[in-house]
Amino acid sequence: MKNRPKDDFFAHLEDEGIGVTFGDVQLKTKYSTVRPPDVSLVSRFSRRVPLKVPFVSAAMDTVTEYPMAIAMAKAGGIGIIHRAMSPKEQARHVTRVKRYMNPFIPDPICVFETDTVESVLRMKEEKEYDFDTFLVLNAHGKLSGVLTSRNFKHCLENEVYLTVGTVMARDDLVTAHPDTSFEEAFQLMRKCPGDGIGLLPLVDESGMVAGLYTWKDIKRRKSSETEAYNTDTDGRLIVGAAIGIGDAGLAQAELLVLEDVDVLVIDAAHGDTETIVDMVRVVKKEFPDVDVVAGNISEADAVIRLIQAGVDGIKVGQGGGSICTTRTVAGIGCPQVSAVALCERAIRYTHKDIPVCSDGGVTESGHAAIALAAGASSVMMGRIFAGANEAPGDIIIYPDGQRFKRYDGMGSQSAMERSSAARERYGGNGSGKTVPEGVEAIVPCQGPVANVISRFIGGVRSSMGYLGAETISAFQMRAEFRRVTEAGRREASPHDVTVIPFSPISK
Ligand code: XMP
Repeated sequence: MKNRPKDDFFAHLEDEGIGVTFGDVQLKTKYSTVRPPDVSLVSRFSRRVPLKVPFVSAAMDTVTEYPMAIAMAKAGGIGIIHRAMSPKEQARHVTRVKRYMNPFIPDPICVFETDTVESVLRMKEEKEYDFDTFLVLNAHGKLSGVLTSRNFKHCLENEVYLTVGTVMARDDLVTAHPDTSFEEAFQLMRKCPGDGIGLLPLVDESGMVAGLYTWKDIKRRKSSETEAYNTDTDGRLIVGAAIGIGDAGLAQAELLVLEDVDVLVIDAAHGDTETIVDMVRVVKKEFPDVDVVAGNISEADAVIRLIQAGVDGIKVGQGGGSICTTRTVAGIGCPQVSAVALCERAIRYTHKDIPVCSDGGVTESGHAAIALAAGASSVMMGRIFAGANEAPGDIIIYPDGQRFKRYDGMGSQSAMERSSAARERYGGNGSGKTVPEGVEAIVPCQGPVANVISRFIGGVRSSMGYLGAETISAFQMRAEFRRVTEAGRREASPHDVTVIPFSPISK
């Protein structure tokens, strides 16, 4: 095992019984030939789940549903869909992320010529479809036309009783054979711009529908901005989902795996328990091809048990989150930077290639840089993303015009009241523990998550430039830490000036 300069620093502090966190330490600068724009932020969330930028949005019901997960993956990171909803609903969120970039739909939703527009509209509402275009089949089940939003709009006003067959578009319907590749579909659809070729149904020799390409999705996939997206080998956005424990957790995992979720996150307040270690073992046995990340832990010896159970990634952080009260309520936990550094070193001692995700406590990009330098491969954040447009929940406007969004700890009273998953995570696995371990809060609105992430990308790049590191692993190899005093901490933030509001640092 190769030692890193930081190992002795944290081991020495640990021997003294001292744990340190973000405000306690800073990185030493090094001779550098590296310019921040030239560094690579490529990393991993788990053994086989890549990241183009090392940021992860937390599995919390005020942070990550499909809009956040899509935005996170588009920015190069990953979102973990929370589990404070029914497993079916959670699986639908995963589907929406996986479908976002997928121009090929193997089983498009079809309606019959004899259906009324009204019945199609009802089905759309019941099934919560977010699209308005359906392929239309005749009585023999063969493709006969397309029902588009134009037909809907027309009928919405006065003619919903008409049958689909009378209102659908049937003229310029272009089709292709079932083996049409993405590239062939692109060429075909590009040749015929216009409404009719917004869709390319694939049809076999007998006229049966065998799939569908949509121009909107093909265009999206072809655009150069997608180079920054975090995608799987099929070009779909990468997404994770949190799961619970026991048979229910396993059934939930099965639904998620069916939707091609990239990583399952076993999500517990205390990850070093028999229940969680057993759950990792069972989930890995059932779904060996899907990565499993488990946590949360903050002690080095806990990594051994999770690794023996087969984890592909470990989430480190207990009680350091902005909305957490676990440490005050239960008096447990380890300051975050020490927890990350010691757990990462323990993993290296096992000679296993298991990435650490540092979860909680980050409020500035410099904190993310410190977590990465201490050994994390990724940084999970809740508070930082909760004010973004893509986070769930309405905007709360205060009388003075300030705009906020709700951000609740999953162990807060209200989160536990609205979700059994939160009760399971913080309510002691059904042991009847009912003391809240989190608070309900609000955070300022932040605009699109892409803007939030770009601030963090800029900060981490800058940090890597100061240390002369071109990659995250070089960053970790070069990182040396120094403890700061109270005066040093004061000096490190703006002081003796009045900061103009709304600059990034004041948020
Ligand atoms: P930040 O600091 O990014 O932390 O807001 C997000 C992480 O906090 C954890 N979390 C909780 N921990 N009580 C806790 O002790 C809670 O109510 C709670 N809710 C979330 C979680 O790990 C999340 O990713």
